[in-house]
Amino acid sequence: MRRPEDLLAWFDLHRRDLPWRRTRDPYRIWLSEVMLQQTRVETVLPFYNRFLERFPTVGDLASAGIDEILALWSGLGYYRRARQLHAAARRIAELGTFPSTLEGLLALPGIGAYTAAAVASIAFDVAVPVMDGNVERVLSRCLALDEDPKSGNARRQLLAAAAELLDPERPGDSNQALMELGATLCSPRRPKCLLCPLRPGCRAAREGDPERYPAARAKRQGERHRLVVAVVEKEGGVLLFRRPEDSALLAGTWELPWVTVEVDGVPAAEAPAAALTARYGGRWTLGPRAAGVRHGITYRDLEVDVHRAALAWGGEVREGWAAEWFDAAGRSELPLSSLVGKVLAALSPEAPATRSRSRRR
Ligand code: ADE
Ligand code: SF4
Repeated sequence: MRRPEDLLAWFDLHRRDLPWRRTRDPYRIWLSEVMLQQTRVETVLPFYNRFLERFPTVGDLASAGIDEILALWSGLGYYRRARQLHAAARRIAELGTFPSTLEGLLALPGIGAYTAAAVASIAFDVAVPVMDGNVERVLSRCLALDEDPKSGNARRQLLAAAAELLDPERPGDSNQALMELGATLCSPRRPKCLLCPLRPGCRAAREGDPERYPAARAKRQGERHRLVVAVVEKEGGVLLFRRPEDSALLAGTWELPWVTVEVDGVPAAEAPAAALTARYGGRWTLGPRAAGVRHGITYRDLEVDVHRAALAWGGEVREGWAAEWFDAAGRSELPLSSLVGKVLAALSPEAPATRSRSRRR
C-alpha cells in the first residue's frame, strides 16, 4: 500500500480547481479548512468568497466585530467555528505573524489536530498526515481495518498508514489527495475502485466488499431526546431568546424557547412550563401540541413537540439571556439553527399538520 507516487499522479490529474488551492496564503487555506469541516465544498464556495471579500487578511478579520462575522457565517451553521476563527485571528494579529509549525498552530485557540495538520502541510509544507472522515474511510478500507476508526488503536494504525502515503516533498498535496479520493472515488456507498490509484494495495477492494469498512462506531448512549418548543407570537413576530455569551454550545445564537421533556423514555423532573421558567424566566402557559418535527444533531435524535404559548413577564429575563421579537425578515439576518426554520414551517398555515406527524414513529 506504499504508493504515494500513484496517489499524487492521480491528484495532479483529477484535483478539483478550488479557490483555496490557488493560494499559499495560510489565512486563506486555514479559512477553507475551517469552513470545510462538517460542510460540503459546494456549500462552502459562496460563503468563502464573500467572507474573503469582506475580510481579505487575517488582520481585517481580527479587527472585525463578532456580529458582522456571524452574519457572514449565517447559513453555514456550527457558529462556534466562526467565534473560534475570530479568537485565533486576534491571537495571530497579536503575534504579528502566522504560526508555521504544528505546535504553533495547535497553540491557537480553537485549532485542533485536524486543522493544525491541514494548515501546516498545505500552507507550510510540514510533513504531517491529516485525519478526517474521508481519510479514515479510505485508509480503513486499504488496511481492511475491523475497528471503529475513532478508537485509539485504530487511529494509530490509520495515522501510520497516512504517514506512509505522505510524500515529504509535497505533504499538502498528499493529504489533499487522500481527502479528495475519499470525497470522490472512495465514497461511503459504491466506491469506484476501478478508477482508484490505491487499488493495487487496497485490502478491502481485494476482499470484494469495501462498504464493510470503516467498522461502525460503537453507539453512544442517551440518543433520543424529546423536546417541547414554545412559540410565542405577536402580529407576525415570534419571540426568540439569545443564548448567553458563556454558553458551552452555540453561545450568542438566537433560539426558540425549548426544554427537554424526556431522554431515552425517562421523563424530566419538571413540567415543561416550569422548566421554561427556570431557563428563561417569566410565567409560561402552553397551548396543546400544534405540530411535531424530527431533527438530527450529531449523535442525538430529537423529537420536538411544538406548542403555541403565552408568556407573562413577572420580572426580568434570566441573567445573560436576551429576548426579542423577530418577523421573518428579522430572522433571516440572524444565525439560527435549522430547527427554528423547521418548527416555524410546521406551524405555518400551508403546512398540513399531519405531514410532520406521519413522519413520527
Ligand atoms: N476536505 C477538507 N479540506 C480539504 C482539502 N483541502 N482537500 C480536499 N478535501 C478537503
Ligand atoms: Fe476505496 Fe476502492 Fe480505492 Fe480501496 S480501491 S481505496 S475501497 S476506492
